[in-house]
Amino acid sequence: MKILAIGDVVGQAGVAYLRANLRKIKQKYSADLVIVNGENAAEIHGIGQNDAEDIFYAGADVITTGNHAFGRYDIYSYLDDEKYILRPANFPGSAPGHGWCIVSVAGLRVLVMNLQGNVSMKVTLANPFEVADSILKRESCNYDIAILDFHAEATSEKLAMGYYLDGRVQVVFGTHTHVPTADEQVLPRGTGYITDIGMTGPSVSILGVATDCIIKGFTTAMPQRYRVADGNITAHGALFTLSGDKCIKAERITF
Ligand SMILES: [Fe+2]
Repeated sequence: MKILAIGDVVGQAGVAYLRANLRKIKQKYSADLVIVNGENAAEIHGIGQNDAEDIFYAGADVITTGNHAFGRYDIYSYLDDEKYILRPANFPGSAPGHGWCIVSVAGLRVLVMNLQGNVSMKVTLANPFEVADSILKRESCNYDIAILDFHAEATSEKLAMGYYLDGRVQVVFGTHTHVPTADEQVLPRGTGYITDIGMTGPSVSILGVATDCIIKGFTTAMPQRYRVADGNITAHGALFTLSGDKCIKAERITF
């Protein structure tokens, strides 16, 4: 089984790029399951229902999110109603939506989880390690393969999650920083891992945002209104090849 994870989609241009290219990419890599982090689709701050529907139409099987999951009010009821769009599972139970789903792929039941880190994030949520344990325990009879999108800032927290779940889930990939890391690997007990898969956004940008607003923020220390950068889009992601209950190959991809 091959699992394709696509990094945080930035803005309408990122969504349009996936609509034009995701099916080709899925075919090129013979991916059985496509997971797309879509939390920045609505011009960075969240994802609207239209964006989510576009990303599903483009070929995503599951959409994950993160700290911007609730950036758009119009997504709240959709998060409740649509099974295959996730928000981090460690938000308070009162938050709209759900943090994991089980999708049927090639005769296997694939548990896809979404969690948010607590290090250097603006809010502190329930301990993601404990929540991962509780989901795996609760669903133990209901899945064959398990995958986690860990949306977090700190490389240490992401690596810790990878090793914590090594051998208990098949894939842990990180999102949120928008910069792909060069540490794709199979951990000792067979979990495919990468600290961050990067983004689907403007190639000339700072994390997808126009360079001038970010630089002005740093040089003046004044708050800035972020604007998605113009220009060509690059999509980053990772491809994980599974054999039985082990990941045997983890690759970074760019297109
Ligand atoms: Fe994020």
